[in-house]
Amino acid sequence: IVYAYFKGKGNLKDGLSRVLTEVSQGYFQPNVGGENIPIAEGELSDLAGDEPLFKALYKWFLESGGVFKLVFGPKAFIVVSDPVVVRHLLKENAFNYDKGVLAEILEPIMGKGLIPADLETWKVRRRAVVPAFHKQYYEAMASMFVACTERTCQKIESTIHQGGQGAGAMLNMEAEFLSLGLDIIGLGVFNYDFGSITSESPVIKAVYGVLKEAEHRSTFYIPYWNIPITKYVVPRQVKFHADLAVINECLDGLIRNAKETRQEDDYEALQNRDYSNVKDPSLLRFLVDMRGEDATNKQLRDDLMTMLIAGHETTAAVLTWAMYCIAQNPDVEAKLLAEIDSVMGDLQAPTMEDLKKLNYVRASLAESLRLYPQPPILIRRALADDTLPAGLKGDPKGYPIGKGADLFISVWNLHHSPHLWRDPEVFRPERFSEKFQNSEFKGKWAGYNPEALGSALYPNEVASDFAFIPFGGGARKCIGDQFALFEASVALAMLLQRYTFRLAVPPSQVGMATGATIHTANGMPMKIVRRTSTAVKSTQAEPRAVSTLS
Ligand code: HEM
Repeated sequence: IVYAYFKGKGNLKDGLSRVLTEVSQGYFQPNVGGENIPIAEGELSDLAGDEPLFKALYKWFLESGGVFKLVFGPKAFIVVSDPVVVRHLLKENAFNYDKGVLAEILEPIMGKGLIPADLETWKVRRRAVVPAFHKQYYEAMASMFVACTERTCQKIESTIHQGGQGAGAMLNMEAEFLSLGLDIIGLGVFNYDFGSITSESPVIKAVYGVLKEAEHRSTFYIPYWNIPITKYVVPRQVKFHADLAVINECLDGLIRNAKETRQEDDYEALQNRDYSNVKDPSLLRFLVDMRGEDATNKQLRDDLMTMLIAGHETTAAVLTWAMYCIAQNPDVEAKLLAEIDSVMGDLQAPTMEDLKKLNYVRASLAESLRLYPQPPILIRRALADDTLPAGLKGDPKGYPIGKGADLFISVWNLHHSPHLWRDPEVFRPERFSEKFQNSEFKGKWAGYNPEALGSALYPNEVASDFAFIPFGGGARKCIGDQFALFEASVALAMLLQRYTFRLAVPPSQVGMATGATIHTANGMPMKIVRRTSTAVKSTQAEPRAVSTLS
């Protein structure tokens, strides 16, 4: 700062800006164009305070509209909360944008995995990975989802047992959903059984360490980790690199193993999509056997790491917030139980056919994703100058923006917008299938009706014309959306079929914090009792896994 202070015009604030700009290698880019965009002047303290950033953005959105510029000292972001502009960024002109700041943060962890990948790498890898998510794969996954959820049920049972039959279990369900999500993604993506519901291993600890660091980096203002020496002297960076080495070693071992154990009969079965005869149905097996020639070991590792991180916390968060909302809405809970009991009866596990009939379960998960989108903000950077389209409300001409402009697509604002949703803060899964007269809805932005999609089957960005984007949209839409929805439907249906969940603390004590996803500030302790009206048979199933904990 002293150096910059004397180098500059004697103004300490300018000097600080310059130092930050230099240290952060372009992280701070004041020149984003968009001269006419309304400006919301922020305070650095707003970013550093207790309130998550996306909540601060909501206040400014109500004051400044669907497109505004947020200026924090040397840094400016364009914040977009208007579905027409969002559609432009994600779909119509998607290839003019990359992941900008996010890619810088994630690259050291995910390398050239799909999320941070530059467009050239992304095109090749997306084409290689997407075919792995097909109908027979999901069918093979369904029994694994059941077996993993069965483990969670067994944990609840043993906790109930320890506390005496009448007392019920007391568990932090957020932690339980994270363990469930980790076990499922490990088995589904690389046939590796983390076994995290029942145990803790160095690999699990390393995964959580890396996730914590990714979160720290996504909320920290200055990317000091770009300075090489930090990895030797800053304790959390030293730990991060040690954790990364543990995971990389594990993934490298799995890739080596998958390549060495390639079996001809599995290959044939995979080619015929005959998953009943495939010993290892994981994505890794598919990528190695069917796409082996396409990718280096490093690229495969980046793909696996990306899916591990992208598919784990997100799904756990959806289940956490769905349970949080359901436990406080007895009417919704009663409807869910009626649907689950009528579709599944006293059967121990939902089948794929059952899942298709669990419409209200799916609508509840969608409503949880509306209220708690994961992640709450999508990040983009303009690769060339562009003109944003005129939004539903605001500048009728649309705003020109410059190359290098950083944009935040606020999914939180879209999903909570009083201009798009009636009673936006209310948890009401029915909203996706309700019909109502437009005149009933006073604050509405013209022409938009994301509610009343006509069907609760699968509310998504297409049906809502980019007002509801739980999995993003356009070319870079989530590839794991079906996987996540099936997984969450199985887990929610099985748990609610057997147990009643109630918050053990006032909702305000659960709190909200954000990193890559929205999670609780203090965990989500719940009291869990067995439902008396159902006699559910346990499958006692264990997920099959070829690779076990090293
Ligand atoms: C991308 C959400 C589960 C893998 C995305 C994006 C969103 C999202 C919003 C778009 C990001 C952007 O445009 O910047 C979610 C949610 C999930 C979930 C809410 C759970 C409920 C999963 C799962 C997997 C996965 C289970 C893997 C098995 C990915 C990948 C991308 C992605 C690889 C990058 C796609 C690309 O750029 O081509 N996810 N996701 N996600 N997700 Fe998911």
